[in-house]
Amino acid sequence: MSKNNKTEKAEKKRYYEPAPQDIDIDNFRKVIESRRSVRKFTDKAIPADVLDACLDLALLAPNSSNLQPWTFYVVQNVDKKKRLVKACLDQFAAKTAAELIVCVARTDRIDEMSKLNISEFPLPEVPPLVQKYYKFIPYNYKTGYFNALGNFKKVAFKVARTLNKQLPVTAFNPADAILWASKTTALACENLVLSLRAYGFDSCMMEGFDEPMVRKLLNLNDQQYPIMVIGAGERAKDGVFMPQYRFDRDLFIQKV
Ligand SMILES: Cc1cc2nc3c(=O)[nH]c(=O)nc-3n(C[C@H](O)[C@H](O)[C@H](O)COP(=O)(O)O)c2cc1C
Repeated sequence: MSKNNKTEKAEKKRYYEPAPQDIDIDNFRKVIESRRSVRKFTDKAIPADVLDACLDLALLAPNSSNLQPWTFYVVQNVDKKKRLVKACLDQFAAKTAAELIVCVARTDRIDEMSKLNISEFPLPEVPPLVQKYYKFIPYNYKTGYFNALGNFKKVAFKVARTLNKQLPVTAFNPADAILWASKTTALACENLVLSLRAYGFDSCMMEGFDEPMVRKLLNLNDQQYPIMVIGAGERAKDGVFMPQYRFDRDLFIQKV
């Protein structure tokens, strides 16, 4: 990207400084409070531009080191959709959904995304610190062949801790790397369902699916993890099966 293009792009970016003051908290609350897991949808389609707007808002979710380790498969092919409904155990939420979106966390594009963070950096100059950061950050989340890098980090971190060093979250094994990518991808999933709600549509997050079937359907490699399928559409009148309930907040919130 040329310097001029970069400046233009940077100018177009929303800095949101100062932060907008006219946000309506009541409507914001309404979006969150009216989101329910909907298990039955009407036949109404989600307009393509609305779906795209919601997906774009999903991609604005905060994400680890801006590495964006996710892919959202909007499954629209009739045959594939049929197979996906079956993979979702024929749940009503999948069967009646206007759209089915498979949310995939990935650990296979860390290097590629690091490089993009440099080449697409939104200011004319990439600060040396940023360049250095994206040169080294992949090693934080990768674990290497036969976990060689993960094991090396385990030892290195142990030694560093004896020296009273503060150390960041890192991946010591493939499970840690999956957790890293899933954590971030789930945030985008929440952005997606709240965006759908704001546009008047509803959703159901589903992890009740046959993972090997979904993997086969989308031809996923072993570093791509389908973390949930989101069924989306217009809420049927009887689409919410029971009132929403949560336990006492003291069970979950501790001010320490
Ligand atoms: C990761 C995740 C997986 C879920 N999987 C399913 C599912 O397979 N089927 C289903 O009907 N609901 C599923 N749910 C919805 C939860 O059951 C629901 O969020 C919870 O009961 C609270 O209800 P609410 O979303 O209406 O507030 C899932 C939710 C999450 C976050």
